[in-house]
Amino acid sequence: MNTISLDTQHLARFMGDSQLEALLPEVLNAKKTLLEGNGKGADFLGWVPLPEDLSPQIVADIKADVQRLSSKAKVFVVIGIGGSYLGARAVIEALQSEFAPLHREGGFPLVVYAGHTLSEDYYYELMNLLEKEDYAVAVISKSGTTTEPAVAFRMVKAHMEKKYGRSEAASRIVAITDARKGALHDIAVQEGYRMYVIPDNVGGRFSVLTPVGLLPIAMAGFDIDNLLQGARDMRKLCVQNDDFDNNPALLYAAVRNVLYRNGRKVEMLVNFEPRLRYFSEWWKQLYGESEGKDGKGILPHSLCFTTDLHSMGQYVQDGERLMFETVMSVAKPQHGAAIPWDERNLDGINYLQSKSLTEINHNAELGTILAHCDGGVPVMRIELPEINEYILGQLIYFFEFACGVSGYVLGVNPFDQPGVEAYKKNMFRLLGKPGYADK
Ligand code: PA5
Repeated sequence: MNTISLDTQHLARFMGDSQLEALLPEVLNAKKTLLEGNGKGADFLGWVPLPEDLSPQIVADIKADVQRLSSKAKVFVVIGIGGSYLGARAVIEALQSEFAPLHREGGFPLVVYAGHTLSEDYYYELMNLLEKEDYAVAVISKSGTTTEPAVAFRMVKAHMEKKYGRSEAASRIVAITDARKGALHDIAVQEGYRMYVIPDNVGGRFSVLTPVGLLPIAMAGFDIDNLLQGARDMRKLCVQNDDFDNNPALLYAAVRNVLYRNGRKVEMLVNFEPRLRYFSEWWKQLYGESEGKDGKGILPHSLCFTTDLHSMGQYVQDGERLMFETVMSVAKPQHGAAIPWDERNLDGINYLQSKSLTEINHNAELGTILAHCDGGVPVMRIELPEINEYILGQLIYFFEFACGVSGYVLGVNPFDQPGVEAYKKNMFRLLGKPGYADK
């Protein structure tokens, strides 16, 4: 099977089948609300049909831009924050070599990120890199007014215009923003930048399958057709099936809510493949921003195993029983790496020599799951046949659909984020932004 699935066998001692079955009507009701678009936040459901609805012309335009820009750029700077950058980074880091900055393949530029931090040292180092390398830029902001990417873009734009001249700089910049309004929209129109639109009805954290994610992913050399195909195939499963056996998104949404009602307030998304670490960052935004409101919501947390077993393992095994664990379990590696035989066996690990690293990693995973269950942590596994564009497309849609359903079961509006504004008001007042003195 080339489809992701959810393994719940290790949950048996933490929740009865009857609890799950009892939640099915609520889950189906949430699914109906999502598909009929008559619940809270219904103005932001443009992502639901997205993998089918995305115009082939947009995909063709993205590919043409990749050809045009990759011929003249060694570095591609993606400027954006939150939903305007995490999806692209999640997919790119899952697919590219861990050593991509040192070891480029295939003639595609190295994607680097800006606008996601206000660190001065970060920008000093970025500018040093951009001084030396030819580069192009995607500046991504739905509102077009977010401070962090605006600051980054002002610096990068000024550098580009000095380095290449205004007209050549303009040809190296792509703006992805609102169709009609916002400072970024206005700058892009005035400067004549290539533009893509973020649909009004797609919120940032649900926008990875729009140009927001697709352009950077394609610039990094990855196959966006397969990514979209994976999402389309998962969408069919999610929309057509009303039972837990055939709809992993409904099952995941239900399990989370049963465990939450049973007192589990923290979900740890765990991987045994470090290249999935940014997938966890994307997932944390998706679930944290969608569900953490009205004094409710599971706190999304993430760990990379086996690395973090040597730091956080103690707490997970023996600390307060707040959490449950969702393991992203990858069946097959992309490549092989053998452990050599050593005649002297001074390190005592010859017993591992006939095994593949994946077999060892899978045994670490099973050993961890059994230990954590014994320690009182409910564990479920998302089984990924391998890591490629098609499977990641499925995983994205699976998490998005489950998030919408889960948020409605929780009783919140999964598609707003009023809490994100609070720090901005304080920051603007502290920095003396006009109009914020009395806020
Ligand atoms: O999901 C969200 O809405 C947020 O995380 C936004 O994506 C983030 O704040 C960036 O906003 P914008 O794209 O308007 O710059």
